[in-house]
Amino acid sequence: MGQQMSDQRPIGVIGVGWVGLVTAGCFADLGREVIAMDVNAAKIDALERGEVPIHEPGLEGLLERNRERLRLTTEMSEVLDPARLLFCCVDTPPTYSGDADLSRVESVVSQLPESGEHALVMKSTVPAGTGRAIRRDHPSLTYVSCPEFLKEGSAVEDFLHPDRVVIGADPGDEWAADEVEAIYRPLGGELVRTDVASAEMIKLAANAFLATKISFINEIANVCEEVRADVAEVAKGMGLDERIGPQFLRPGIGYGGSCFPKDVSALKQLAGNSGYHFQLLTAVIEVNELQKRRVISKLQKHLGSLVGREIALLGLAFKPDTDDMREASSLVLAGRLQADGARVRAYDPVAEDAARPLMSGVDFSDSALRAVEGADAVVLVTEWPEFAELDWAEVASRMRGDLVIDGRNALRSELVTAAGLAYEGIGRH
Ligand code: UGA
Repeated sequence: MGQQMSDQRPIGVIGVGWVGLVTAGCFADLGREVIAMDVNAAKIDALERGEVPIHEPGLEGLLERNRERLRLTTEMSEVLDPARLLFCCVDTPPTYSGDADLSRVESVVSQLPESGEHALVMKSTVPAGTGRAIRRDHPSLTYVSCPEFLKEGSAVEDFLHPDRVVIGADPGDEWAADEVEAIYRPLGGELVRTDVASAEMIKLAANAFLATKISFINEIANVCEEVRADVAEVAKGMGLDERIGPQFLRPGIGYGGSCFPKDVSALKQLAGNSGYHFQLLTAVIEVNELQKRRVISKLQKHLGSLVGREIALLGLAFKPDTDDMREASSLVLAGRLQADGARVRAYDPVAEDAARPLMSGVDFSDSALRAVEGADAVVLVTEWPEFAELDWAEVASRMRGDLVIDGRNALRSELVTAAGLAYEGIGRH
């Protein structure tokens, strides 16, 4: 253990989900040989054929132009033989208790030889303390924590232009951290070298803080509705204070995705498991759950009972530019609407295939204008730019009712009302 590795060695990437695929493609784009491995043979086969299984801007082109430097395999041995740095990018989904499920990480670790030649670089989001536990159980393994901060929808851009790169290593493992630093250095961005537990906490704390900012502005929006203030003005005025900053102050119908819901509850559980009750995060989660349901009361305020009402959802994914439906607010919304007797139709530019199996009883349309036909109300769920461009006079002529709920404050209300429709946003009057 501890010998310096050759720069020329291929980099191993284990798990080609969102993070793994982007990581592998971007490392190849930086001129490195990459061997990416996944246990899912169908996914590897599809990638071999040039089919990218996720919707992520720029990813397809990136993988295509780096085909020669990026090898794909389902065999761990094909990674372990040539590579020494192994970037672990498997997913860590939530368990019923809210803790992170580390079974895939454990499976990767169990396949690593005890020869001490390899360094596991953890990109998967894991609870603080995971690295220490892995190191304790596998003393010959070198371990580096290198959390990922990319956002879906701008993942390639975020990866290639990071604000900061966090690299955590404990004494004895610095040589591998140096190698990781050398890979990332050309990308610029502040390099944060720290210990493993702190690196793990940085990731969880960053996501929890962003989620807190969103729940905070959502509550401010709800109060704005009561006092007839405009949350957009409030967020702008707040965000100009450099200590607060303008980002992540967009109110809406709750955050979703594969990261915030999972990581906030994982941090809460992590604290709870060691006897600390993280009260703030309990509230952040609760506010988010309630926020998803506020649309229902807005609809009821205008329509009364929802029984037999036709409600059109515009957008389904948890954010634009992705087909990811994990923890999307649309799932809760559609379920609540159906439970209240409404009929739900929906349109999303790219997420329909991912949404169908999760949304039984929902009628899917192939365009926004088709989805709104005969609708009593339209709810904007995901702020795809095409919805802001809609011809509202045309929408009005196709609808049965006249209500538009803008769940992301993404529409120009004056255009909607000019078409004779009633507009209601979040925290706007
Ligand atoms: C998030 C973090 O932003 C990334 O830094 C992190 O790397 C990633 O999780 C992860 O841990 O893998 P992501 O989930 O892709 O990225 O998407 P975000 O753009 O952060 O949006 C998350 C949710 O918050 C979306 O539902 C979005 O609509 C919502 N949101 C975001 C708001 O409601 N208001 C805002 O102001 C911003």
